[in-house]
Amino acid sequence: MPDSPVTTVGLHAMKRDGRKIVALTAYDALFAGLVDEAGTDVVLVGDSVNTVLCGQPTTVSATLEQMIYHGRIVRTGVRRALLVIDMPFLTYQVSIEDAKRNTGRVMQTTGASAVKLEGGAWLAPTVRAIVEMGVPVMAHLGFTPQSVHALGGARVQGRGTEAADRLVADAQSLEEAGAFALVLELVPAPLAERVTAALSIPTIGIGSGPGCDGQVLVLHDMLGLNESFKAKFLKRYAALAEEVRRAARAFGDDVREGRYPDRDHSFST
Ligand code: KIV
Repeated sequence: MPDSPVTTVGLHAMKRDGRKIVALTAYDALFAGLVDEAGTDVVLVGDSVNTVLCGQPTTVSATLEQMIYHGRIVRTGVRRALLVIDMPFLTYQVSIEDAKRNTGRVMQTTGASAVKLEGGAWLAPTVRAIVEMGVPVMAHLGFTPQSVHALGGARVQGRGTEAADRLVADAQSLEEAGAFALVLELVPAPLAERVTAALSIPTIGIGSGPGCDGQVLVLHDMLGLNESFKAKFLKRYAALAEEVRRAARAFGDDVREGRYPDRDHSFST
């Protein structure tokens, strides 16, 4: 019998029971299906699609149409995991009305179970309005890539007492506003542990140490497909870029030397 689908309530139970949450990004049906079959709990259609697949320098230029397109195709590959879609820059920051309309559109057109938004206490009223509308919100604190220009690059956040206290207060206001989970990106491990202990909702870390309730990585980074991304926190579980080059070279050699296609790979009648 297949496992029952992961829900936001189920993620809360995992935190309560001390079971770690496993999350990965996916941008298409094929990879989404593979990570879902592997038992991943949360599949995130990250706006990192804009950098990882589309070659753009930041996530700032990701669009709503792009996220809807990738969300829809990922949906077809996911059976068990909770599907979360990133709301891109400028779709929720300008007004609460905008945020409600745009998140509603993402939910309606993709079949996702939740959306993810970046921001601290200033975002809490927006989170509350979206949650009241019936849309589960995953919050995102620490390094928030849509603010990369303001933050001066992909840097660790929350260093020093004042910044750490602010991050804890931000996290609490997002929980109070109704967020069901919180991504902590590039936060010192002791601070991530402090936030995790202070919240009843699960934290999902990336570059934030082992004390979070779960971990997320960008799939293409951990597969070694995106070799240009080198970060201290990244562990590569495969070296697929090298494998792709090896296979392409082998195919090229076979074609040039007349070894492919051979009889086994041709139709005789
Ligand atoms: O866009 C993304 O892939 C993300 C993860 C890094 C958490 O937000």
